[in-house]
Amino acid sequence: MDTISSLFNPDSVAVIGASHAPGKIGHSILKNIVASGFAGTIYPVNPAGGELLGHTCYKSIEDIPGPVDIACTAVPARMVHDAVLESALKGVKYNLIITSGFSETGNIEEEKKLVQTAHAHGMRIIGPNIFGLYSAEASMDATFGTGNITPGSVAIITQSGALGLAMIGKSGVESIGLSAIVSVGNKCDIDESDLLEYLVQQQRTRVILMYIEGIKQGERFIRALKKATRVKPVVVIKSGRSARGAAAAASHTGSLAGADEIVDAILHQCGALRADSIAEAFSWCTYLAHAPAPATEQTVIVTNGGGVGVMATDACECYEIPMYNDSEALRDIFAPVTPSYGSTKNPIDITGGAAAPEYSQALDAALDHEKIGAAMALYCETAVFPAAELEAMLEDTHRRYNERGRPVLFAAVGGEDIENAILRLRKKNVPVFNDVYQAVACMGKLFEHYRQKRCRCDTFEDSDIDTASIDAITAEARTAGRSFLSAHESREIMRIIGIKMPASCVARSLDEALARCDDIGFPLVMKVVSQDIIHKSDAGGVVLDLNDTGEVIDAWQAINQRCLAYLPGARIDGIELSAMIEPGVETIVGARRDPVFGPIAMFGQGGIYVEVMKDVSFRALPLNRLEILAMMKQTRSYPLLLGVRGEAKKDIEGVLEAIIKVGALVRACDYISDIEINPLVVFEENAGVNALDVRILLETQRKEQP
Ligand code: COA
Repeated sequence: MDTISSLFNPDSVAVIGASHAPGKIGHSILKNIVASGFAGTIYPVNPAGGELLGHTCYKSIEDIPGPVDIACTAVPARMVHDAVLESALKGVKYNLIITSGFSETGNIEEEKKLVQTAHAHGMRIIGPNIFGLYSAEASMDATFGTGNITPGSVAIITQSGALGLAMIGKSGVESIGLSAIVSVGNKCDIDESDLLEYLVQQQRTRVILMYIEGIKQGERFIRALKKATRVKPVVVIKSGRSARGAAAAASHTGSLAGADEIVDAILHQCGALRADSIAEAFSWCTYLAHAPAPATEQTVIVTNGGGVGVMATDACECYEIPMYNDSEALRDIFAPVTPSYGSTKNPIDITGGAAAPEYSQALDAALDHEKIGAAMALYCETAVFPAAELEAMLEDTHRRYNERGRPVLFAAVGGEDIENAILRLRKKNVPVFNDVYQAVACMGKLFEHYRQKRCRCDTFEDSDIDTASIDAITAEARTAGRSFLSAHESREIMRIIGIKMPASCVARSLDEALARCDDIGFPLVMKVVSQDIIHKSDAGGVVLDLNDTGEVIDAWQAINQRCLAYLPGARIDGIELSAMIEPGVETIVGARRDPVFGPIAMFGQGGIYVEVMKDVSFRALPLNRLEILAMMKQTRSYPLLLGVRGEAKKDIEGVLEAIIKVGALVRACDYISDIEINPLVVFEENAGVNALDVRILLETQRKEQP
C-alpha cells in the first residue's frame, strides 16, 4: 500500500457520482475541486457521460484513461460496493466514501465488505459518511463545504462531518488558515491515528485540531498522539460520554474510571491540549500556529486598567502562567513609563492616560529584559487612545516580539471600532482577543505545550514479573472460570511481585490461633472469616490492638458470640489473625485493562470512602517515574504524603514502586483484568508501604457482563 501522502497530494482525482444537477452533493464536490485550483487531473464519473464543469465526464470508472490516485464516492449506499470494487480494480489508491447509511445506521456488514474488497486490491478507504478532504498542499477542496477555504497552517481531523463543514465556515470568519481538513466518519479503515502520523511530519501543518467522538483503537491512538505532541501542538475536542467505564464496577478502579475521566487523563498524559468548545479550540490553534517557543515562562502584563489586570492575574493562576515578580527589577524597567499613581508591580498599570507611545515603551522595556519571557498587553478603550492608533501599535509590537522570538498577545475591550480593529488584526495573524480570559488561556496553552515537551521522556518503568509463578497460582481459578482470586491467591501474587502485606493466617480453632500468635507478632488484629458475614465490623467480627495471648482468648470468644448473635446460624470458617499495622496515609493503587485504551493505572485517596471522595487519577500504562508522580500530584490528597500539620513526609517512593509493580502485573498477565490495593498504607519516608487489602479480578469477569 502507498504512503498516505498521496491522499493529501494526489495527481488525479475522480468524483464518482458527479451529478449534473447543481445542489447535489456529487456536483458540489466536483465544483469545489475545480474552484479550489487543483492542478492535477479531474475525472467526473456519471452514467450520463457528457461534460461537467469543463471536464469530460466518464460513464464508468474503467473508462477513465489515466491512473487515479483518489476517488470521492457520492452515489447512494446500495451502489457504493460496486463503485469500491471498480475503483479498486482501476488501481485507485484512496477512496473517500461520502455516502451515509453504513455502520452508523447499523449497516455494519456492508461496511466490512467495503473494507475487504478495497484491501484485497490494495486500496484504502476514508469514511464512509464523510464530507471529504481539503488539502492546501494540493490546493484541492474535495468537500461539499461552502468553498473558499483560506490556506494556512492548522490541520483539522474531525469525526463529525457536519461539524467539520461548520468549522470550514467558521475558520473563514475567524481568519484561520487551514493546511488540511479531513473527516474520518465511520473510520472503517483509515482513522485519526493514520492521519495524525502523516500530518505531524507535514511541514505546512503547524497545529493539529481533532474533533473526536469515540476512539476505536485506543492503544494505537495513544502512541500516535504521544509522538505527535512531541513535534507540534495537538488540540483535541472530545465529546460523547459513554457508559463504558461503568460496565466493570466490580472494583473501585472500574467504577471510578468513568469514560470521560480516562479520556481526559490520557489526553493530558499524551500532551494534547483538550478544549471544551470550538471557539476555545480555534483561538488556541490560531495562537499556537504562529507563536514562538518561550525561552522562559516569566510573563508580564501591561494594562491601562486595574480591573482587566486583576482578571488576567486570576486567569494566569488558573493556566499556571508564572508572573515575573522581581519587584526591584520591575520598578527599574517600568518606572520610566508609569505615572506615580500607576503601578510597577506585575500587572503593570500604566493607567488610563496611556496611549500608543506609553504602551510601546513599556512593552519594549519588557522585550529588552532577558528574564522576561513573554508579555500580554491589555487595553480598555479610552478617548485618549483611539482604536486606529491601537491597531498600528499592536501590529508593530507583534512584529518586534516575533523578530526576537518572544511570545506576546493582546486583549482589547471596547466598542465597534475596537471589534473591527481586532478583525483586521487577526487577518494579519496578530494575536488579539476581545476577552482577557481567552487571551491568557492561549498563553497558558502555549506554555503547557512546550512544558510537556520538555518534561517527557521515553523510558518507561517496568518491573520483572515472574509470570510462570503467577500462572501457577491462578491456574485453578482460571480453569474453574472464576472471575476473582481468593484472598490467599491474591496475597501470594503480592508476595511474588514484592508488595508487602501484613503477616496473617486463618486459625480454625483457638488452640491454632494461640500457636500462631508468635509467627504473626503482637500487637495483632483478629477478623471473623465467614462467607455469610460481609460487613465484619458491623457484626462485631473485628477486634484490633491485641497485645498478648490473654487478649487473644477473650477476643476469640467475643467474636464468635457477637457474630452468632448478629446472624444466628452463620457459618464461621475461622478467625484471621494479622499483624496490626502502624497508622499511615491510606491510599488506593490499582491497574486495570480498559476496553479502549488497554492497561491503565490508578492512584488516589484510599480507605472506605474512596467512592464518595472520588479523589483518584488515571494514566495509560506503561509509565515513567515523572508520569507516575504527575498522576499522584493530580489528586487533592497528595499533600498528605508530603506531610501536613508538622507530620513527617511519607514514603512517596514506596507508592511509586507499588504503582510500577501492579502496572507491570496487568501488562504481563493478560488474564488479569483488575488489581486493586485498598488501602495501601504509606508510612514515613523510607519506612515503606503495606497493602492491607488486595482484590484481583480475572478477565472472565468482563465477558460475563452485559
Ligand atoms: N457511477 C457514477 N455515478 C453514478 C452511478 C455510478 N455507478 N450511479 C448513479 N450515479 C449518479 C447519478 O446518476 C446521479 O447523477 P445525476 O444527478 O446527474 O443523475 C449521482 O450519481 C448521484 O446519485 P443520486 O441517486 O442522485 O444520489 P444523491 O445525490 O441524491 O445522493 C449521496 C447520493 C451519496 C449524496 C447520498 O446517498 C448520501 O449518502 N447523502 C448523505 C451524505 C452525507 O451526509 N455524508 C456525511 C457528510 S458529513
